[in-house]
Amino acid sequence: MIFLCCLLYANLVVAQNIKSTVSEKEHFVSGLMKRMTLEEKVGQLWQVAGGFATGPDGSNLGSLKVIAEGRIGSVLNVSGVKNIRKYQEAAMQSRLKIPLIFGMDVIHGFRTGFPIPLGEAASFDLALIQKGARWTGTAAAAAGLNWTFAPMVDIGWDARWGRVLEGAGEDPFYGSQVAVARVKGLQGDNLSNTNTIMACVKHFAGYGAPIAGKDYNSVDMSMGHFANFYMPPYKAAAEAGAATFMSAFNDFNNIPSTANPFLLRKLLKEKWNFKGFVVSDWGSVGELINHRVAADKKEAAIKAISAGLDMEMVSNCYFENLVDLVKEKKVSIKVVDDAVRRILNKKFELGLFEDPFRYCDENREKETVESASSREIARSISERSIVLLKKSDNILPFRKDLNSIALIGPLAKSKKDMCGAWSTANVNNVITLYEAMKNRGVEVNYAEGYDLGNNKIVNYDSTLSAVEKSDVVVVAIGERASESGEMRSKTDISIAAQQQELVSRLIKTGKPVVVLLMCGRPVIFNEVRDKAPNILLTWWLGSEAGPAICNVLWGDYIPSGKLPMTFPRNMGQVPINYQYKSTGRPYPGDWAAKYIDSPVEPAYPFGYGQSYTSFKYSNLKLISDNLGKGVHAKISVDVTNIGQYDGEEVVQLYIRDEAASVTRPVKELKGFKKIKLKKGMTQTVVFDIRDDQLGFYDNNINFVVEKGDFTIMVGGDSENLNKTLFSLK
Ligand code: BGC
Repeated sequence: MIFLCCLLYANLVVAQNIKSTVSEKEHFVSGLMKRMTLEEKVGQLWQVAGGFATGPDGSNLGSLKVIAEGRIGSVLNVSGVKNIRKYQEAAMQSRLKIPLIFGMDVIHGFRTGFPIPLGEAASFDLALIQKGARWTGTAAAAAGLNWTFAPMVDIGWDARWGRVLEGAGEDPFYGSQVAVARVKGLQGDNLSNTNTIMACVKHFAGYGAPIAGKDYNSVDMSMGHFANFYMPPYKAAAEAGAATFMSAFNDFNNIPSTANPFLLRKLLKEKWNFKGFVVSDWGSVGELINHRVAADKKEAAIKAISAGLDMEMVSNCYFENLVDLVKEKKVSIKVVDDAVRRILNKKFELGLFEDPFRYCDENREKETVESASSREIARSISERSIVLLKKSDNILPFRKDLNSIALIGPLAKSKKDMCGAWSTANVNNVITLYEAMKNRGVEVNYAEGYDLGNNKIVNYDSTLSAVEKSDVVVVAIGERASESGEMRSKTDISIAAQQQELVSRLIKTGKPVVVLLMCGRPVIFNEVRDKAPNILLTWWLGSEAGPAICNVLWGDYIPSGKLPMTFPRNMGQVPINYQYKSTGRPYPGDWAAKYIDSPVEPAYPFGYGQSYTSFKYSNLKLISDNLGKGVHAKISVDVTNIGQYDGEEVVQLYIRDEAASVTRPVKELKGFKKIKLKKGMTQTVVFDIRDDQLGFYDNNINFVVEKGDFTIMVGGDSENLNKTLFSLK
């Protein structure tokens, strides 16, 4: 009883505190806004670039003079306490001393580079992903930043689009959970803590589906398609409390996202009750002119601000026109005030009005950035991001007493390429595979094998002599970091022919061969896929790439990653994903949705990844009694580790709606659990079945759950599944 009273009292105090902070914030911001001139208000809506450009028109860097006039609200692309202090000091010279917020694309680690986000998503380990983001946020905040343009939550089915690298892959259910983990990790519990930063959910909306995989291209999709496949991660991230959103470059239903009232006002701000602010993408308000929906900057400003776009990044349509537009009554002051208030609220929540320099502590920066613990986290995420695609001999994991290795391929020695796109990593501190192998004390006979610049086999004689001297061959093939990312769309995602030919030649020598695939997106590599006995997908893993790969090669960590995107077998299959719809003429069959010159099946399905050990699934059961509230059934399955090593498995649950009022996918991931199993052991894994796994969005974006039959599937990837039936009555 006493305990209960204490608890109630404590809750009351917390509730009062929250209330008082809310009213304190409202009170403060309203008071401030009363003192602001229209020019100062418009100033809050402009973000300029500081140190460097991440888009066209890079000469338009922000000036300290304009900041000191109170005409700029935020600066992007500066970091480091010393630099940031300089800009903040300029803001403190302005009449009302409104602090700036500092944003940057910190998307996979800060200075200590983490795996590219797509690679990290292969870990299927949400706690780890959140921990990684927590560390990224802590380090970025220590370097003076209070805002990152992450996470990118765009769903991608098209590996031609180079930005699939920045997301969590193709699946809306998994993508939503990763989005939440990343938002929570970056923002922590309280934005006012000096080790947290604001997340920015991007790119709203549908940016991951550009026609023909061409970055910045138009997007065209039905509302039902958007609601079920692309929208869920944005919604989940908004519900998780993301502080900001970024509008996408693309158009959506014929209206550029940056000026799209349906997306920004109706869906995000009204339906989802989003209280943060929306920033444009780099220059995208100005680009409304290129989209040909605005004749000039003035019209662009009217369209964007009316649609609900609060802050303009880099282009200066608001800066040049909004004051006049309000005076001419073409834009209501209410609309401007709403945008200003949203931005000032966040500055308040960050604690910047209390102390504009609270993120500027040089000691904290020194202690935090590139700390030893950041490298440990980087290594552990990297190990868990690696996917074992093939293992058909007994060479992996390496014996501890292995003497010599022929290490082939320049990617094994490249620090820069391990960092991937949008990297803030300190390149000099990347440990390459070559260095890590040497550190293990094994004899490393390195040969370049092929030239990374033009992908030609070079100095084959020295490659052969390295092979002859060695017990095993490890060959690193793949893409350079500059080949995936923004502006890096490709019409052919194949691994260069000569890299593949080199692997074939190495296999012919008769030595055991392990292929490492280093890349930023799904790639096609059929020659290697057919012939190589062992293939590990290592993406671009960042600062600890070398040690992490070695730990997996030597079995200090048994690989457990699973593919977050389908790997196609040829270009004609792209875009490809596992949750396509049946169609009226489903495959297999003659008059079926298929190709006459290629199998329909991908090279590797979504969710796929092997281990050095193996797992058996049995005893799939539906339990329909003694269920908790809101639970329609439970699914239970026994998973047994039948191999030679302790290992981890991602147990995956897929559901198919057998008959619905609209067309539904052949299967959808609706649950997963990553379990650790000692060899010989069995674990029973149980999933609850609830409304949110059975329902879908109708064409008006209402979530509906329909009664009827569902096929429930459980297994270790999206193709090898045990099945049972469930009826929702
Ligand atoms: C990208 C954004 C990024 C912004 C700022 C743009 O080119 O599309 O994702 O956050 O630049 O660097």
